[in-house]
Amino acid sequence: MLLSVDIERLRDDLLAAGYTLDGLAERLGQPALAGLARNSSVAAARSLGAADDPQAAAIRLWLLQQPVPAASLTGWASLPGLLAAGLVTGTTELRATVELKPHGSDRREGWICSDATPLDGLAGRPRDDFVLGASPASTTLSQLVPPGSYPRALDLGTGCGIQALHLDADEIVATDLNPRALELARITLGLSGVAADLRIGSLYEPVAGEVFDLIATNPPYVMSPPGDARLTYREGRIAADGLVRQVVTGGAAHLAEHGVLTVLGNWAVTGGQPWAERLAEWIRPTGCDALVLQRELLDPFEYIEIWLTDAGLAGTPDYLDRYHRWLDYFAASGIEAVGMGWIALRNSGREQPELRIEDWPHAVHQPVGAAFGDFFEAIEPSRLPTPEFLSRRWITASGLVQETIGAPGAADPQHLVLRQQSGFGRAVEAGTAVAAIVGACDGELPLGVLVGAVAGLLEADPEALRDEVLQPLRRLVADGYLLPS
Ligand SMILES: C[S@@+](CC[C@H](N)C(=O)[O-])C[C@H]1O[C@@H](n2cnc3c(N)ncnc32)[C@H](O)[C@@H]1O
Repeated sequence: MLLSVDIERLRDDLLAAGYTLDGLAERLGQPALAGLARNSSVAAARSLGAADDPQAAAIRLWLLQQPVPAASLTGWASLPGLLAAGLVTGTTELRATVELKPHGSDRREGWICSDATPLDGLAGRPRDDFVLGASPASTTLSQLVPPGSYPRALDLGTGCGIQALHLDADEIVATDLNPRALELARITLGLSGVAADLRIGSLYEPVAGEVFDLIATNPPYVMSPPGDARLTYREGRIAADGLVRQVVTGGAAHLAEHGVLTVLGNWAVTGGQPWAERLAEWIRPTGCDALVLQRELLDPFEYIEIWLTDAGLAGTPDYLDRYHRWLDYFAASGIEAVGMGWIALRNSGREQPELRIEDWPHAVHQPVGAAFGDFFEAIEPSRLPTPEFLSRRWITASGLVQETIGAPGAADPQHLVLRQQSGFGRAVEAGTAVAAIVGACDGELPLGVLVGAVAGLLEADPEALRDEVLQPLRRLVADGYLLPS
């Protein structure tokens, strides 16, 4: 265990060596950083050449997983503590047993301490309690969180501590089942100046009876055959997608009023039941508003290949055996496909919660956290009683564009499409009347007046037109095309 005082010393040593995001960018250059993002060390090693200054030593030790001469770290006050904690080993030549990577978020700059990422195509099964560093999934989850300052936040399954690093909260509780994860998260957060209450335990056990304004989690969602050795960072002990279900169904009880739960997960598509129905069965009893977006739907073959490769098993002698066993498990469990996506719940205490579950494989504009927040905020205005809805003034969301599609030279377009250029990047086909009304929504006149004016222009019956456009306009409000003025 690295003592707090040594974490402080390590931070000072890293800063003094220039082992920071800016320091790396300046020292290594863009191709080397891009190489490291692809888990290739070659360009970075070439950039360093034979240099043995403290910054080069830090890069070799903590990032490239190379040995460095002990003499290159003589000035480091943290070295005795690192050796005592086993985070660095050796005598004349030193090696790191973990990875320490500079990391930045909107909120702060710091370092992430995790197990070492396999570099340069090195395969092989990681240890069962492997602690993953910042992965693409980690970044995606951090981008799903609606921006804002939260009084109390829970980072469930913190791993290396990356979510806590991104959170803006007065009080952060970070939990994990894996004691090694908590130890490395303690170093990450200590180095990065984030105060968090780290607790060990499964799911919501460590926070029994507590509520949070935000829960963010990227739980272990891989649905592996039971009996196979588990990698704690990706596989729970509950069959199929039971763990993700428990995160969702159990989460509501831990949400404060207006509290939000964001989950990145996988779910099984089973027994011919539409996936959305299955997710609705999980969410309805929570009584929360919810937005679920399925980003990808994988057939069992694609899914299994991804995760066998992730476990370092591609090309190994038992690859095919495991592959077939996994397929047999899916067949026996009725798992026909796997959905991957995002779940957000908000405890609004509404009598009739809003439950929106959609396929959304299209490109989005990250970070989409604000769009999730806007979705929840739009529920109330989209449901206003009709007289109030029509008497309100509305404006179009910034960046909204109208696309007209039709044959070259045609007098009228065949399709009018309203497209968002931020958030979820939604697009919707609008009729001439709806498009004209939306175009006039500049916050000056009440919606009802605009509907009447457009009826006049189109020589339509005002009441009939109002009935026709009301639902599409409510949906445009719900989806963030139109905002209260
Ligand atoms: C996919 S990793 C996510 C890590 C980190 N939050 C991120 O965003 O990268 C899942 C984490 O959940 C932890 N975990 C596994 N089973 C758990 C459980 N039953 N309860 C709490 N955490 C668990 C793992 O140890 C791992 O750190």
